[in-house]
Amino acid sequence: MRKVLLFVALALSVTTSAKQSVTVNVQAGKPGATINKNIYGQFSEHLGTCIYGGLWVGPESSIPNTNGYRNDVLNALRELHVPLMRWPGGCFADEYHWMDGIGPKENRPRMVNNNWGGIVEDNSFGTHEFLNLCEMLNIEPYISMNVGSGSVEEAAKWVEYMNAADGPMAKIRKQNGREEPWHVRYIGVGNEAWGCGGNMRPEYYSDIFRRYQTYMRDYNGTHIVKIASGASDYDYEWTEVLMDRIGSQMNAVSLHYYTVAGWDGSKGSATNFSKDDYYWCLGKALGIEPVIQKHLDIMSKADPNHRIPLYVDEWGTWWDSEPGTQLFQQNTMRDAFVASLSLDVFHKYADRIQMTNIAQVANVLQSMVLTKDDKMVLTPTYYVYKMYIPHQDAKSLATTVDGCAVKLVRNERFKNNPAEGANRPLPLMSATASKAADGKIHVSLSNVDADEEQEVTVNLNDFSAKKVTGQILTSGAINDYNSFDNPNKVTLKEYKGAKIAKDGSITLTMPALSIITLEVE
Ligand code: AHR
Repeated sequence: MRKVLLFVALALSVTTSAKQSVTVNVQAGKPGATINKNIYGQFSEHLGTCIYGGLWVGPESSIPNTNGYRNDVLNALRELHVPLMRWPGGCFADEYHWMDGIGPKENRPRMVNNNWGGIVEDNSFGTHEFLNLCEMLNIEPYISMNVGSGSVEEAAKWVEYMNAADGPMAKIRKQNGREEPWHVRYIGVGNEAWGCGGNMRPEYYSDIFRRYQTYMRDYNGTHIVKIASGASDYDYEWTEVLMDRIGSQMNAVSLHYYTVAGWDGSKGSATNFSKDDYYWCLGKALGIEPVIQKHLDIMSKADPNHRIPLYVDEWGTWWDSEPGTQLFQQNTMRDAFVASLSLDVFHKYADRIQMTNIAQVANVLQSMVLTKDDKMVLTPTYYVYKMYIPHQDAKSLATTVDGCAVKLVRNERFKNNPAEGANRPLPLMSATASKAADGKIHVSLSNVDADEEQEVTVNLNDFSAKKVTGQILTSGAINDYNSFDNPNKVTLKEYKGAKIAKDGSITLTMPALSIITLEVE
């Protein structure tokens, strides 16, 4: 019997004392849109130790490296099948002058990273270093141009430098040791133009976008995907104005949505939090779905044939930084669930969402890896991305969850804020499924209940399971994480608990706080 309780601090909650029984219905015989692998994109900004110390230590470092890139991080990213990476920002991008980051390292001017702590950087990681990294790992690069403080000429020349086979920019590139163009396709025309990217109004940014996009040329058949700097969260007017004014000139528009407990004051500890904080956070993460729906509806008005995809090119959790750092935060089981629940939502809109970039790949916000000197740990979020690899470029399968308890979560702090203040529903189970090119079906299930296991039946409808294997990510506490001293507290394990029933459906008992991906043949 379920009871409804009111938590004064954070959450209106439904609790249960009995084991749950949930049915997951997968329309296995009706493959839908392809889940663009770029939904699994990463973001790497010159922020804290994401680039310097995280990806790059330089060839002279005593930390094992290949041409300056940390070997441990290279291996971790290689195993993650990262399809795409955004660089150099973020807010950093709108103060970055790419020409300072090419040529012999000793000649590169130093720069002040004004956005992130006023750190002086030596520009040793620039265009070549980023694009060569992408090439080594078979990652598609996404370059964010400086629109806020740069010039049209600077941006146009950057595209030419990266993509032209011949001409003045190609000549300089060749002098700098790179003969062939890199064929960069994804170009962001600014970042957060409403904020750190120039504090523009949407009307003004639309005019600026027109100028910049005019001079971003296609070279040698590399077609540039021009990405308009989109809205944050609930700023629907931004999307509306952009779609009206530059819908015909853009190839994609972005959206930023962070799972954050407000922008003023404390955002809360990454590791020290209550169960109510935990549930509120997952409700906030799921709050991205109505936000996506509203932006997509607005886009549909101006673009009824859905030519323009939505790129959620920044998302993830944002907690208080560890003291003395720039946005370095630990990563717990809570973050793992934010990842799985968000990816489940993105899959649902696979026909319209063609790219997302979790913020960020190393040492910043909801990262994949954390590094400290020569040590590296893989985060729980990393493992979610690993479990979800089979969904990349697979066909999405419509999936519903029936019979699961739903909590209503609310943060008292937002009681006077109409967008944030309402009760948010948080189903305690989330599921997504896809069909790969080889016919295998992958079903990912998240039991976010901190206390109760769930009896789950997965009905595949037109598909009868013959074989099932699985992987599980679980841990005893909501705030379990991998530290440099205890790097394997939360890791991926083989899961053998799924059974095939006579009717071809699958049954399993999911532990509390667990994420499972099943592979079904
Ligand atoms: O990801 C950190 C910052 O968040 C980015 O620089 C900016 O675009 C956003 O506000």
